[in-house]
Amino acid sequence: MARHEINPDELRKEFIGLYGSGKQPRIFAAPARINIIGEHIDYNGGKVFPAAIDRYLYVAIRRRSDTKLIYNDLFFDGTYEFDINDDFKFAATNDYANFLNGILSCMKKRDCHFPCGFEVLIASNVPSAGGISSSSALECGFAWAVNQTFDFGISRKDIALMGQQSEHEFMNVNCGIMDQYIISTAKKDTAELLDCANITHEYVPLKLGDYRFIVMNTKKQRRLADSKYNERRSQCEEGLRILKATGHDIPNLCSMTPAQFEQWGSCITDDVIFRRVRHCVTEMDRVLKSVEALKADRLEELGQLLYASHKSLKEDYEVSGIELDTLVEAASHQKGCIGARMTGAGFGGCAIALVHKDFTGTFIQNVQAEYTKKIGYSGDFFAGGAGEGVKEL
Ligand code: GLA
Repeated sequence: MARHEINPDELRKEFIGLYGSGKQPRIFAAPARINIIGEHIDYNGGKVFPAAIDRYLYVAIRRRSDTKLIYNDLFFDGTYEFDINDDFKFAATNDYANFLNGILSCMKKRDCHFPCGFEVLIASNVPSAGGISSSSALECGFAWAVNQTFDFGISRKDIALMGQQSEHEFMNVNCGIMDQYIISTAKKDTAELLDCANITHEYVPLKLGDYRFIVMNTKKQRRLADSKYNERRSQCEEGLRILKATGHDIPNLCSMTPAQFEQWGSCITDDVIFRRVRHCVTEMDRVLKSVEALKADRLEELGQLLYASHKSLKEDYEVSGIELDTLVEAASHQKGCIGARMTGAGFGGCAIALVHKDFTGTFIQNVQAEYTKKIGYSGDFFAGGAGEGVKEL
């Protein structure tokens, strides 16, 4: 089916059309997320500051009387069939079904017992491979749906950890915990300050006054597995190893203050590793300052921190690119815009801008024009309204 904005009622109808009438399916929703600030530091023991937005992926699910599993997606071709007693393994030909099998394989490792199989139909309003966590929405939305369907009683935090475990063990992506965590635990109108060193969080009201977050999609697709994500992670591990070997007994890169890094950083002689570490230390500092700024309604200051974060991701961490830089640069000279940066892993995907509500229309028009002129194709823009964590509808 051609991609369009889907709503749960339409999904329910399609489900019955596909699998036949009988018991109504249960429908679950998982949001997309933006990361306000704190990029590439979740896997370095840092604090990150994401929020859910009101773009959802839906999972319709119904138990079967046999042990079959049937997966369909409204916008992707192909039906995938398995059996709940299968020994699930990643296979490139299984496409999105890998995300689902990865979760089931983690559930089985936790000794979840399935008395029968089930059928699902998925439909998403989250642009895929677009940097606002379409894959975590799929993992966590599906995991929550299965958890509720079979009354496994797995907590939201454990659903997030399971999503991450599946990425590590099944999908071969060494991601942090940020995306799965915010998608599983988000509350409306709040952002979350997530401490990735001990996996705890604090909800922070997202009081933006007259400002709105505009999500700017480069439409340059990428999957984490194809990107330099794992390479960045190894470079950080190398930085930590050097610091430790030089006698600085720190648990992770983000536990270093900027002042400590000033003193100790010279032990890292490789320029690339040095810059990766510098990004982690300065980004952590910006997160703490951003949260204080938001709590004290100092939005202009928050905006400046967003710009600084982008610069560091571009120059020190090198995960930006011409598309993201063009969006942020174009945003930065628009009336009403007080901050912008790439969000998520980078290498394409999305950026966000903090824009006064009276200027969002002209903002989008102007940034779109500049982007299209320079990049040769158009981007996609929308206001990221507040969303909620995984839930049944
Ligand atoms: C991806 C990962 C997250 C995080 C971000 C970068 O979205 O899934 O864990 O590392 O990149 O901040």
